[in-house]
Amino acid sequence: MATRIKIFDTTLRDGEQTPGVNLNIHEKLEIAKQLEKLGVDVIEAGFAIASPGDFEAVKAVAQSIKNSTVASLCRAVEKDIDRAWEAVQYAANPRIHTFLATSDIHMKYKLKMTEEEVFARAVEMVKYAKKYCKDIEFSAEDASRTRVDFLYRIIEGVINAGATVVNIPDTVGYSTPEEFGNLIKGIKNNVSNIDKVDISVHCHNDLGLAVANSLAAMVNGATQLECTVNGLGERAGNASMEEIIMGINTRKDYYNSFEHRIDTIQIYRTSKLVSSMTGINVQPNKAIVGANAFAHESGIHQHGVLSEKSTYEIMTPESIGLTQNRMVLGKLSGRHAFEERLKELGYNLGPDEVQKAFEQFKSLADKKKEVTDRDIEALVKDKVSDI
Ligand code: KIV
Ligand code: ZN
Repeated sequence: MATRIKIFDTTLRDGEQTPGVNLNIHEKLEIAKQLEKLGVDVIEAGFAIASPGDFEAVKAVAQSIKNSTVASLCRAVEKDIDRAWEAVQYAANPRIHTFLATSDIHMKYKLKMTEEEVFARAVEMVKYAKKYCKDIEFSAEDASRTRVDFLYRIIEGVINAGATVVNIPDTVGYSTPEEFGNLIKGIKNNVSNIDKVDISVHCHNDLGLAVANSLAAMVNGATQLECTVNGLGERAGNASMEEIIMGINTRKDYYNSFEHRIDTIQIYRTSKLVSSMTGINVQPNKAIVGANAFAHESGIHQHGVLSEKSTYEIMTPESIGLTQNRMVLGKLSGRHAFEERLKELGYNLGPDEVQKAFEQFKSLADKKKEVTDRDIEALVKDKVSDI
């Protein structure tokens, strides 16, 4: 039987930690509704205690979302947990997500707490949160740099205290796929009662490995993947939702024992919405949703795709909600693609006119990075009036 993977979207929390991003309540609500349409299992709506605005936004998302769990982040302290619950209590499916750092570096320099104090606090705060809400996620911040014996111990402690999800963040994007996969496997094999909860992972992209680490974790037992739309997030960002999902779908041969409930047709629309609301442009060569992800420039590639798309496309643009791929006409483009574009633009020229127009197009393409439809129309109008 296939393992159901849950998608936990943190665009509205970690994604909002992208430098320069500040979403107001209306923008957060609109994004949350689109995430619900996309089919994410959990929407982390914000960090309720961070500001009155964040509190109101988490509350508004909790009140309006029906088909996804709504979570608020909070530190492992009573007043944060109180505030998180105040905001998410309205949700059809509320979750309190509390976190505490567990690595030696964080315990010593940031928390100034001993291992015993961290263990006791984590257990006590999960029990405290459990008084409010049955769905409690505990994150061991900086888990990938935590001594593994302590990580096993604290995970076991919070599960016994009532946590329903244990999250293993690669907080500083330090891990590599093989290492991170082994960490998850070790947790699965060494922590008692681990099968009663979801193992979640939350990977940052400092080394560009966040998606690879998330997929390696999934293969080794993680059942919840935390991610953001367009890979937004603190520093180099979080694992990108669209890359994880299209990775699973495109490589069904490899990931055939996993399923999720994301409606991939909504991916492109969601990416566009998040980009326009956050003001963060998607880089053109970004996998899946970048402007060039389905664009073909070289003549050899264009000819291949026009004959049979699968020659150079491993997924269809339609599968993410785009209507078609894009042939970029430039100096490397061939006559075949040029002629196709003429037809799309409504011109049915004879072979001699096409040849003349193609020669002019080639000399123009030597001077311009991209030859646009308007350039082609100008070329062809000359040809038509020549005739
Ligand atoms: O990166 C991180 O460790 C986090 C936690 C709060 C889950 O964002
Ligand atoms: Zn994070």
